[in-house]
Amino acid sequence: MNLLQSIWRSSLGKKYIMALTGAGLFLFVTGHMVGNLQFFLPPEAINRYGHFLKTTPEILWPARIGLLAMVVLHVASAVTLSAQNKAARPQPYAGKTKDLGASIASRTMLMSGLIVLAFIVYHLLHFTAVVDSINGAGFDFDELYEPNSGHPDIYAMIVCGFSVWYVALFYLVAVGLLSVHLGHGLAAMFQSLGLKDHVWGPRIGAFAKAASLAIFIGYASIPVSVLVFRHGKAYADRVKAGIVPDAPGAVKALKGGAK
Ligand code: HEM
Repeated sequence: MNLLQSIWRSSLGKKYIMALTGAGLFLFVTGHMVGNLQFFLPPEAINRYGHFLKTTPEILWPARIGLLAMVVLHVASAVTLSAQNKAARPQPYAGKTKDLGASIASRTMLMSGLIVLAFIVYHLLHFTAVVDSINGAGFDFDELYEPNSGHPDIYAMIVCGFSVWYVALFYLVAVGLLSVHLGHGLAAMFQSLGLKDHVWGPRIGAFAKAASLAIFIGYASIPVSVLVFRHGKAYADRVKAGIVPDAPGAVKALKGGAK
């Protein structure tokens, strides 16, 4: 049995794998959020960023493969550890003692994690594979091009994507669950790595709470700004007018009102 097999076969090894892949995924989630916040700059910023990533395969593909490996290892260790814990304790504790000391977040980690995973599958179909039958908008986002550069218009795609209220709501629920998952997961990660003691414990707890709240606010601000404040709507309508004849921008263009 080689080293990797023995790490995988021990519960402690799997906890380490879950903690380290969780840390990697947290870094991705933070970086992706910062990249996405360019949505609050003029459209060219996020479009240029998306174009750079898509045309730099030497960054894109190693990152994608690394991400996929982390997701597979994180989910596989979570599911097997949870099954092992259940098997070791087949009888539920009597009365309410089961709930003592365990927050809702900690008791629903597997569930929140699997729902976030289902969201990621939808999100990849929505914005990366750009499958038009699941976007609810009634047209293909792949046809949105930035007027100046001719690059795929990620900014307009995000606006059109979140203008569908039930899609925006699904994103909000998903990033809410992601935040709850991270709030517990970040603190648990330090514990698994043996870095949590009575001095650092409260600081780690405070960091986990602050980071998960910041992740929620950062991600949620995008669908909320589109849905509630109609952020980017005028621009996206103009871009959409190029492909959808009855879009608001198209009507204005016919009347000679829009540039
Ligand atoms: C408001 C929320 C979000 C927005 C606006 C957003 C935006 C985007 C966009 C535009 C892309 C496609 C980039 C491209 O192919 O050009 C993308 C890809 C992706 N997003 Fe998000 N995202 C959001 C939330 C999330 C969350 C919460 C996660 C993970 C938990 C996530 C994970 C990913 C992944 C894994 C990819 C694929 C990267 C790749 O391989 O190309 N996103 N996102």
